Order: sequence, then structure tokens, then C-alpha cells
Amino acid sequence: MRYAHNVTVVDHPLVQHKLSVLRDIRTGPKEFRELVGELAQLMAYEATREFQLAESTVTTPICETTTKVLAGKKVAIVPILRAGLGMVDGILSLIPAAKIGHIGLYRDPETLQPVEYYCKLPEDIGERDVMIVDPMLATGGSAAAAVHFLRERGARSIRLLSIIAAPEGIAAITAADEHVQVYVCAVDSHLNDHGYIVPGLGDAGDRLFGTL
Ligand code: PRP
Ligand code: URA
Repeated sequence: MRYAHNVTVVDHPLVQHKLSVLRDIRTGPKEFRELVGELAQLMAYEATREFQLAESTVTTPICETTTKVLAGKKVAIVPILRAGLGMVDGILSLIPAAKIGHIGLYRDPETLQPVEYYCKLPEDIGERDVMIVDPMLATGGSAAAAVHFLRERGARSIRLLSIIAAPEGIAAITAADEHVQVYVCAVDSHLNDHGYIVPGLGDAGDRLFGTL
């Protein structure tokens, strides 16, 4: 479902069911990690829908036939540390040859501004379809900073996959870079006074890594 020209909500029933379990306060780290991985895989399926194909030929046990194979750019998956790490393996299961970049950012709890502590990207990032992954798009500050780093290093094709977004985060990323294609499973109501998404799922990093 299109939420805006640059935002797709992945509203498939399997995704929505898994998202409900993910939100539940009773879901522990093991199941939470599994669900984040499964949701990332399903989101990647949707986010790669426009990938280019070329005609190929294959011989089946019956005859030769023309088929289609992927022909576009190679992929880079770029998790925003820490919580984005939870989404990497699910996408790699679909695109095993993808390279992985890492961007380390944390939100200052007082100012809610992103603070960078690490950035290591594939050298050929400009030649790749980039998927930034982070389960939460709250104020949008972390995602906008990640997009900024990637553009500075030459990235041209950028998708952002976030499981839950706040309207504020979508507005911020769109204002920062309207060419980024955003994929989410839900757009929630709003942010609370601490910058948490309401209803959201709480702190994604803490729930993934059991650091509550
Ligand atoms: C969370 C989340 C995003 C960011 C979203 O990370 O994983 O990176 O907050 O908030 P924003 O849209 O307002 O920038 P956090 O800073 O808590 O770090 P962590 O992943 O290390 O827990
Ligand atoms: N980061 C999180 O992990 N959760 C939120 O709701 C907002 C930012």
C-alpha cells in the first residue's frame, strides 16, 4: 500500500500478524529476534520488486526455454547499529551475495539527536542498490544521518527498510532526501515526550539484545 509517493507500507497479512506479536510486551528476545529477521526478509521481498531483469536461456529436462534473471546493480545492506543488525540475516537469506556496510549511531537521550560512532561502507557503494535497515524510524534523525553519510560516499540508489515508523520520521526523511524509497510495516500514531513511537514496540535494540 502506498502511504506517500516515496513510502510503501507492507500490509501483507503475514507481515501484519508477525508485527502484532513483535509489539507484544510478553515477546522475549529469542522470539523478537526471529520475528525481526522474518519481517526483514518479507520487507526485502517487497523492496526488491522493481529490480531489473534480463532474458536468459535455460535448458530444462524437457527443452530449452527463455527465462529471466536479475540484471541490475549489486546490493549493499547497511544496518544502523545496533538494532539494524537484527534485520541483516533475513535479507541475506534472499540476497546472499550482498555486501554489508555498518553505520554506528545512537540517539542522545536528552537532545534525541543522532551521534555517530562508526561508519564502514563497501568501497563500491555508488555502484550498488543500498538498503539501509533499522527497525525504528522515530524522529528520523538517525535515518537522515545515515542517508547523509551514504550520499557523501557516493551512494545513488537508497532504500530504507524500517519495521515501524512515526509520521514525524517519515516527514523528516522525506524532507532530508525525497529520493529515498521507504518501506515500513506500519505507520504508528505519534512520538511520546521521550521520542518513542506510540504504540510502537518499545526500545528495539534493548528487546533484540536483552539489555532492558
Ligand atoms: C534506535 C533505533 C534507531 C533510532 C530511531 O536506536 O534503532 O536507530 O533509535 O530514532 P530516531 O528516528 O529518532 O533517530 P538507538 O539510538 O536507541 O540505538 P541502539 O540501536 O543502539 O539501541
Ligand atoms: N528507538 C526505539 O528503539 N524505539 C522507539 O520507539 C524510538 C526510537
